[in-house]
Amino acid sequence: MTSVVVVGAQWGDEGKAKITDLLSEYASTIIRYQGGCNAGHTVVVNGKTYKFHLIPSGILYEGKTCIIGSGCVIYPKVLIQEINDLIKRGLTPKNLKISPLAHITMPYHIDIDGYSESDLGKNKIGTTNKGIGPTYTDKIARAGIRVEDLYDKDSLSDKLDVILPRVNKTLTEIYKMKPYTKEEIWAYCNEYSELLSPYVCMDTLEIVQNSLKSGENILLEGAQGTMLDIDYGTYPYVTSSNPIGGGAAVGSGVGPAHIKDVIGISKAYVTRVGEGPFITELFDEIGEQICEIGHEYGTTTGRKRRCGWFDAVVGKYSVWVNGLTGMAITKIDVLDSFNELKICIAYKDKRDGTIHKNYPTNAAIHKYLEPVYKTMQGWKSDLSGVKVFEELPKAAQDYIKEIEKLIECPVSIVSVGPDREQTIIRTNPYKK
Ligand code: GDP
Ligand code: IMO
Ligand code: MG
Repeated sequence: MTSVVVVGAQWGDEGKAKITDLLSEYASTIIRYQGGCNAGHTVVVNGKTYKFHLIPSGILYEGKTCIIGSGCVIYPKVLIQEINDLIKRGLTPKNLKISPLAHITMPYHIDIDGYSESDLGKNKIGTTNKGIGPTYTDKIARAGIRVEDLYDKDSLSDKLDVILPRVNKTLTEIYKMKPYTKEEIWAYCNEYSELLSPYVCMDTLEIVQNSLKSGENILLEGAQGTMLDIDYGTYPYVTSSNPIGGGAAVGSGVGPAHIKDVIGISKAYVTRVGEGPFITELFDEIGEQICEIGHEYGTTTGRKRRCGWFDAVVGKYSVWVNGLTGMAITKIDVLDSFNELKICIAYKDKRDGTIHKNYPTNAAIHKYLEPVYKTMQGWKSDLSGVKVFEELPKAAQDYIKEIEKLIECPVSIVSVGPDREQTIIRTNPYKK
């Protein structure tokens, strides 16, 4: 029995869904442990593309239990749309189960997300506008509505009587926005309690425990990435949950002692969508080329992703805060045509020349930091069909080995294309 975490090691969109799908073959239960429909997860199988926001990326396999865990926030409209899209494609998500402890995004959370962003002006976060921050804010303020509340009408009514006047006061007095009547919110809750009911499962924790007792493998799927973590990321330019490995235990109910492996996912370069510091960002022709070759446009918002060279300082930090036992390097094929490549090995402070070999957690000083690069030779050949590490050109092997050395963690998987098949597995965490 092995429980494995798949966690983004950069700023999201690293290819987590591809690796989750791949490793799901070996697990009986897949649990998404945090985030909401801010995530955009792409899986490609036999040339067919599937995009998920909340549904765990293991759903394409028959007979696997896929749980939306207690650490998630659910915007029901998007989840229902996602379920319907799957059904239209002939895939009934009958093994999808929603934790009763997940929180529900209300219409006012969406309003507040939009307002907060415009109010911040030049300091805006560049959120996905899916109500993520406000939903988690209410959760922590003990003013949230959970999935289980939708099915306990007396308790829901009591909760709304307490929550709604406060929400309306904030909406009207601070944000100068329209308040909601209890009837409107009641109707919203009723509509979605019905639509979600085939998937809500009041004993997801028991299912997980039974799975552990039977010695089955579990996969814990993260969304976003380490550098977007509310505690460890480039605060305040982060999301409002804990994508890091530790968040997997909290958001799934699988105790930390059960977790045997934590696999970080990094692109062979770096991208970021939204605002916030990004030290290796490229503003030149090379950045544009990476963006075009890698199709770096967001799955959820369609926004162009900012692109830059691989940052080993971030990589090592990610190894530390997640306790990574392996790193998957994805999209290495995107670098096929470059003569030379750069890896950031340290940051230099422009003010006084200080060299930072470790990631400085105060993101406010990142504007003073510039990357110190090691230049690597390009391989100038097509990697998209390579199946075995030893068959990669020497320059590509050297590139991976250099990353391993700098981040002090083995690269256990190399992805050479979007399809499930286009993967080199050096160490399978479920077969160790
Ligand atoms: P996630 O949010 O981490 O799951 O990543 P996304 O799905 O948002 O973005 C990753 C994108 O890269 C998707 O379009 C994937 O199909 C694609 N992708 C994943 N791995 C590879 C790879 O090795 N090579 C190429 N060319 N594309 C990949
Ligand atoms: P996946 O799971 C990339 C970014 C947003 C914004 C910040 C806060 O596909 O990797 P939020 O809406 O969460 O309050 O926005 O986080 N962001 C992501 N960037 N991939 C994601 O998810 C992201 N989810 C949120 O762009 O900068
Ligand atoms: Mg994504």
